[in-house]
Amino acid sequence: MHDVNALAARLQSIGQEHLLRFWSELSPAQQRLLAAQIEAIDFTALPSWIEQYVRRRPVFELPERIEPPVWYPRDPNSPRRPYDAARFRAIGEDLVRAGKVAAFCVAGGQGTRLGWEGPKGTYPATPITRKPLFQIFAEQLLTASRRWERSIPLYVMTSPLNHRPTVEFFESHRFFGRDRGDVMFFQQGVMPSFERESGRILLAGKGELALNPDGHGGSLRALYRSGALDDMTRRGIEHISYIQVDNPHVRIIDPLFIGLHAAAEDSSGEMSSKMLPKTGPFEKLGNFCRVKGRTTIIEYSDLPDSLAGQRDEKGDLRFGAGSLAIHCIGVGFVRRLNESPSRGSAGEGGGGGAARGFALPFHRADKKVAHIDLDTGELIEPNEPNAVKLESFVFDALPLCASSIILETDRVEEFAPIKNLSGVDSAESSRALQIERAARWLEAAGVRVPRNAQGLCTAVIEISPLTALEAQDLLTRRDLPASIAAGDEVLL
Ligand code: UTP
Repeated sequence: MHDVNALAARLQSIGQEHLLRFWSELSPAQQRLLAAQIEAIDFTALPSWIEQYVRRRPVFELPERIEPPVWYPRDPNSPRRPYDAARFRAIGEDLVRAGKVAAFCVAGGQGTRLGWEGPKGTYPATPITRKPLFQIFAEQLLTASRRWERSIPLYVMTSPLNHRPTVEFFESHRFFGRDRGDVMFFQQGVMPSFERESGRILLAGKGELALNPDGHGGSLRALYRSGALDDMTRRGIEHISYIQVDNPHVRIIDPLFIGLHAAAEDSSGEMSSKMLPKTGPFEKLGNFCRVKGRTTIIEYSDLPDSLAGQRDEKGDLRFGAGSLAIHCIGVGFVRRLNESPSRGSAGEGGGGGAARGFALPFHRADKKVAHIDLDTGELIEPNEPNAVKLESFVFDALPLCASSIILETDRVEEFAPIKNLSGVDSAESSRALQIERAARWLEAAGVRVPRNAQGLCTAVIEISPLTALEAQDLLTRRDLPASIAAGDEVLL
């Protein structure tokens, strides 16, 4: 039995007593659930979060001095910054072979823009076989594990909102051929959703808080709290290859990137990133910058037009390095963040709960959140944003690194995200990019690919990760067709 009076008193102390409005109508089981959700709230921090992020609209404070980032160019022979790519690639391969690298997919998001019923990773993504995103990653790991003769573990972060269907999906597909013992799932934290005007926590049901996952930044805490990091340490893992669930083109294991992260002179091995040259000053990608000598990402919406449009003497955008949300993260870095609070805080805040080691700032998003009307008890489905969600972003950990490197990559090769139902970054745009990448890989292997006047491939091509992880994997194959005709469907 819960002491409802004590609960009410605690809630009253932070102005959230309305959460018990329907208590007497709830069954004992529902009461237990609600009480547990309320007890998980960080009562100490909540009032300041509401003040700082909900009642006031946080204003981004532009750092005084922002400098352009430096990066390792895609072409290692570029005069801009030549480097020994073969050496770093070999270092990365050795690390994979030695079992020091794990793959980590953050898949706890709500995927509201895509509007897909299940977890985003179950979305059928490929042009011909409609393989789900999770399968693409699992098959990449199968091939990589065979190639480097070492099983590469996969950690999947879910949220309480999609954990069960995610695990069931892997189970029902027998982990896509991967060893069950090498696929681990853990849940990230949640934050309450707040009513925009009053800062009151919304009720999703009479006995249930409206909760949202606490952002991909929550992964750095969840890795630690869930025991996933300990599991990695037990396995001898030192580097985490971090990917988001919605990009079928991500190279889940990239030896060059891992090698640079682990061994480049200017890398502290804490957290590294990949970047893309932006298509224009206002492309909606986070912008890599240097602030006080540290790698920092400033969101596109926070970078003033005057800076976004600046060009260097060669005519290139000074702040043209866009983030693809691909990182390599040191296991030791995640541990230090969680175990030594003095290591630095990028701001106030942090997920709910006790023992808090470090804090990333929250980002506010105004969203439509269905909720119970406190007077009528009816469920209201708003047409306009009525609520504030607070999330932390993983890239806010970059300035906490002593020295964080960036590797340039190619858009078609590594960035075909599926975020929206249509238009930019949609299933349709991703499909076109997947076909284009497959066409390029085949052309590099000497296959004639049909293209129209605009240069677009007019066949539908899908290359399985079981067949190739990169273009050069096709060079030695003897079973490729000499040419492909317009309208053909080619599955390799
Ligand atoms: P997005 O920023 O695209 O958010 O996540 P989302 O929740 O998937 O989709 P929308 O905004 O509701 O449409 C980028 C990546 O970060 C993960 C997502 O699963 C995706 O891989 N993510 C996001 C989390 O793991 N947890 C979160 O709390 C938020």
